[in-house]
Amino acid sequence: MNAFLHPRPQLSGAPVQDRLGRALRDLRLSVIEACNYRCGYCMPADRVPDDYGLAADRRLSFVQMDVLVRAFVAVGVTKLRLTGGEPLLRKNLPALIRRLAAIPGLDDLALTTNGALLQRQALALRRAGLKRITVSLDALDPEVYARMSGGRGDVVQVLAGIAAAERAGFGALKINCVIQRGVNDDQVLALLAHFRGSGHVLRFIEYMDVGSCNGWRRDMVVPSAQLRERIHRRWPLRALMPNYVGEVAQRHAFVDGGGEVGFISSVSEPFCGDCQRARVSADGQLYPCLFASQGQDLGSALAKGEAALVARIEQLWGARSDRYSEQRAAMVPRRGKPVEMFLLGG
Ligand code: GTP
Ligand code: 5AD
Ligand code: SF4
Ligand code: SF4
Repeated sequence: MNAFLHPRPQLSGAPVQDRLGRALRDLRLSVIEACNYRCGYCMPADRVPDDYGLAADRRLSFVQMDVLVRAFVAVGVTKLRLTGGEPLLRKNLPALIRRLAAIPGLDDLALTTNGALLQRQALALRRAGLKRITVSLDALDPEVYARMSGGRGDVVQVLAGIAAAERAGFGALKINCVIQRGVNDDQVLALLAHFRGSGHVLRFIEYMDVGSCNGWRRDMVVPSAQLRERIHRRWPLRALMPNYVGEVAQRHAFVDGGGEVGFISSVSEPFCGDCQRARVSADGQLYPCLFASQGQDLGSALAKGEAALVARIEQLWGARSDRYSEQRAAMVPRRGKPVEMFLLGG
C-alpha cells in the first residue's frame, strides 16, 4: 500500500499541560472492571454482586488499547500502569503486554494486582515484556487477610505469587497495603518484619474516601505521620528523596540497612500539585482524577484513529483543573458521586 495515501497522522508531539500547569506523564489503564475479591474499602460484597462486570464486548480490545496508548505517548506519557478490577482476570493479558511493550517512547510498563493469580502468570507476564509488578497485600495473618478480601483471598497463595514473580526475574516489587484503623493496623510491624531485607518495598496507603460504597469514615484513617512514628520506634527511619517528580509515596530508609518503606498519604498530606496521572477505564472513559464523578468518552475519537484521539486527549487534559484531595483537606464540599475505585484500579 502506498505510504503517501496512508501517511502516519501528524501528531503535535508537544507535552500537554492542564489548567494548573501539570503535564500528563503517567497513564493508568484498567483492562477489566471485574475482580475476584471484594475488599470492603473498594468493592464491598454487600454492595457489588458476585457476577458484576461489563459484557466483554464493551471493553476496549487489545488493538484499541494499543492505539490509545500510542496517542497518550504522543502527548507526553512515558509511564503506563495496567490496573483492574483485577487485571490478571483479563484473558490473554500477556498478548496485550507484548504489544504495549513494543511502543516507542514508553519507558515504564507496570501492573498492580491482588496477587491471587500471580503464581500461574508471573513468568508469562515477564516474557511478554512487563517491567514491574505491584502487589496489594493488606495483612499477613490469614484470617485478617481473608476477611479484608471479602472472604475470597488466601494469603498463602499471594505469597506464592510474590515468590513466583521473584523467580520470573521481576526483582524488587512494591507491596501496597491499605491501612484501616481497627481492621489491620495491627498488621504493620509483622508485614515489615516479613519484607524488611527482601528488596521489596512495602508502602502503606491511607484509607481514602474513593467511590460511593465503602462507608468511609475519617476516624478509620491512620495518618501516615502516626504510622511513621510507630515504625521509627521499632526500626529507626530516615527520609529519602523522591525517585521522580510526582511520586505518590514518600520514601523512608531503615537506618539499619533493612531497605525502604513508603507512605501514600492522600488524606493527611495531599499531593495534587504534582499529579501527572490520567486514568482510563476498561470501556474507554478518561478520568482526570481518582475522585472524578464523570468519565469522558474516548471511544468515538478512538474510532477515527490516533490523530483524532491525540486531539481529544489534548482538549480534555487542557481543560483539567481537578485537585480533589487538596479540596477535601480544605473542606470544600464535594460535588457529584465519585467514580467507583474498581473501575480505575487505584
Ligand atoms: P510507581 O510507579 O511504582 O511509583 O507506582 P504508583 O505508586 O504511582 O502506583 P500504585 O498503583 O502503586 O499507587 C498506589 C496507590 O496510591 C493507588 O492504589 C492509590 O490508592 C494511590 N494513588 C495513586 N495515584 C494516586 C493519585 O493520583 N491520587 C490519589 N489520591 N491516590 C493515588
Ligand atoms: N483507599 C486507599 N486505597 C484504595 N485502593 C482501593 N480502594 C482504596 C481505598 N478506599 C487501592 C489499593 C489497592 C489498589 C488496587 O487500589 O492500593 O491495592
Ligand atoms: Fe480489592 Fe483491588 Fe479488587 Fe478493589 S480491585 S476489590 S482493591 S482486589
Ligand atoms: Fe490527582 Fe485527583 Fe489524586 Fe489529586 S486527588 S492527586 S488530582 S488523582
